[in-house]
Amino acid sequence: MTEFWKEHSKAATVEEMMLDSRAIELTEQELPEILSMLPPLDGCRVLELGAGIGQNNGHHSNVTFIQADVTKLDIPHDRYV
Ligand SMILES: C[S@@+](CC[C@H](N)C(=O)[O-])C[C@H]1O[C@@H](n2cnc3c(N)ncnc32)[C@H](O)[C@@H]1O
Repeated sequence: MTEFWKEHSKAATVEEMMLDSRAIELTEQELPEILSMLPPLDGCRVLELGAGIGQNNGHHSNVTFIQADVTKLDIPHDRYV
C-alpha cells in the first residue's frame, strides 16, 4: 500500500487521491452528501487517517498535520471521535 501511494501521489492532486480524472467534478457532487451523513462535530477533535493531500486545508488554524505511517501511530482511543 505504501509503495502504491508513493507512486500515485507524485502530483498531489485530487485526481490522484481519488484515482479518477473527474475527481473535482465528483467531489463537488458528492461532498455535500458525504458531509451531511456526519454527526454534529462542533467542539470535537477529529482524526483523519490517510489524509492524502490534506495540505489543501493547511490554512485552517485548528488543523494539525502529522506525517507518519498510521499503522505505527500510538493514539489514545478516547482522544478523537
Ligand atoms: C485514497 S487516498 C485518500 C486521501 C484523502 N483521505 C482524500 O479523501 O482525499 C489514501 C491516502 O492514504 C495514505 N495512506 C495509505 N496508507 C497509509 C499509511 N499506512 N499511513 C499513512 N497514510 C497512508 C495514502 O498515502 C493516500 O494519500
